[in-house]
Amino acid sequence: MDLPRSERIWLMIGGASLVVFFAIILLMALVWGFHNPGQMKTIAPDAVRTTPPFDKPGLYQVGPNEYRAVMIAQMFMYQPNNVTVPAGSTVHFEVTSPDVVHGFEIPGTNVNLMVVPGHITEYTATFRNKMDRVIVCNEYCGSGHQVMLGRFVVQ
Ligand code: CUA
Repeated sequence: MDLPRSERIWLMIGGASLVVFFAIILLMALVWGFHNPGQMKTIAPDAVRTTPPFDKPGLYQVGPNEYRAVMIAQMFMYQPNNVTVPAGSTVHFEVTSPDVVHGFEIPGTNVNLMVVPGHITEYTATFRNKMDRVIVCNEYCGSGHQVMLGRFVVQ
């Protein structure tokens, strides 16, 4: 190619800025990319029961087919222990723990969360089909781990 010197310099600057751009993206991915984005909100574990919305755990309707499930995972139960929604509902789960790490899995769905004290785990899922499932704690949390079960019903 027979380009003037100034053109070549500008092409090099353009190419170099692309390299820098991708390097920044890569660096950001390395620094922040391994966090679970659902665990970015924080809460003091000691204050879970007095901090809204966890002072009133439960299922709240927020739209025509939309619910907010505010839940506490604790040794060795879920609060509320039973969540029932109509088929076609979108549920925004907000779960936290006042003690140790727990799991929150609804088998056969995309809901498989890790609940870490100090953090609020958020996840949204839509349930089109009727089901009656056990909510399972899949993180070992102590002597009652295997009996830490809840119930999730889509009717
Ligand atoms: Cu909670 Cu295992």
